[in-house]
Amino acid sequence: MKKLVLTKEAFVIGENALDYLKEMNAERAVIVTGGKSMFSTGVIDKVTELLEEGGAEVFVYSGVSKNPTVTQVEEGLSVLREKKPDMVVAVGGGSPLDAAKVMTLFYDFPEFDFSNVLQADLSNLKLKTKFVAIPSTSGTASEVTHVGVITYEKEEYKFAIRSEAIRPDVAILDPALPQTLPCKIAAETGMDALTHALEAYINKTGNDFTYALAKEAAEGILEWLPVSVKTGSKESREKMHNFSCMAGMAFSNSGLGMVHGVSHAFGGKYNLAHGLANAIVLPYSMDYNKKDKEVREKYEKLSRILGGDVIEKVKALQKELGIASCMKEAGVDEESYKADFDFLLENSMKGSTAVNPIPVPVSDMEKFLDCIYYGKKVEF
Ligand SMILES: [Fe+2]
Repeated sequence: MKKLVLTKEAFVIGENALDYLKEMNAERAVIVTGGKSMFSTGVIDKVTELLEEGGAEVFVYSGVSKNPTVTQVEEGLSVLREKKPDMVVAVGGGSPLDAAKVMTLFYDFPEFDFSNVLQADLSNLKLKTKFVAIPSTSGTASEVTHVGVITYEKEEYKFAIRSEAIRPDVAILDPALPQTLPCKIAAETGMDALTHALEAYINKTGNDFTYALAKEAAEGILEWLPVSVKTGSKESREKMHNFSCMAGMAFSNSGLGMVHGVSHAFGGKYNLAHGLANAIVLPYSMDYNKKDKEVREKYEKLSRILGGDVIEKVKALQKELGIASCMKEAGVDEESYKADFDFLLENSMKGSTAVNPIPVPVSDMEKFLDCIYYGKKVEF
């Protein structure tokens, strides 16, 4: 038996999807968001206005950065404790969404904090506070997943908190939000979405439903991501928003793989954007995982649908989008990489690497890290 959860209460799509906020009847809402962009594009004003029309008193906590930290979650948590909302509305990229999930978890369950949450049993918790997620980027799919990724700044390590409790009650995919995304962010976050789709597609704990979502998402992202980055057209941005969400529904019900294990290690250490780190690691992982017969057959199936080798298509897309081909090219200093190697190796073996379709021995990971750092071919 396997229980699948694609979303809790609803996911709302299409033009003016934000209007759904008026129907949510919150009494006190706290909006959690990132830096300036959601203010300068008028999104926060609009969300505030709609919540107020629905009868809510609205407060805003802003300033969640890329790779959200323990400190930011604790700051936001103190705002929640002071304002006592019955609804948290997370608006922006994956970072504010993830940070808001963990803030709300700690707000509803004060017995948990960063000292015990990773060891705690979070399996049967249900948030009392309504949680609404409104993504502005099309990448993490945090709006439909049960995952919140936080960086321990002192240890320079990213970790994922997983619980059904933090899967948002409502996801609002309004295509107006990704419309204003800068091309670089659209490219990097879109590669994160592609990584979710391709890792979920080959994950061996998936099922007919997750594979269908992952396959459709991979196909759609490979078609629409270059258009979205180059033209920023309304149609392409909306397609990416929807396909990214589908990839999230797939991976949060199956699992990911070594790309996320490795990219969290590098992202936590060097503060690399998550999408960029994934974009670099993804093609190398495909070359590594294709030695497994089942994975190879899946890639072949996808290649037939796409009309060309899927691994080559991913490599070509990476180049077309101007993404660095290896960590060295992305600016990770060589001396630092060498000095940090043992730390990177240890952390790359953790997280989603444990659910890679084929087990990754440490001896392989050592070689793999050199491949993604120096841009060497994966031939082992
Ligand atoms: Fe991701």
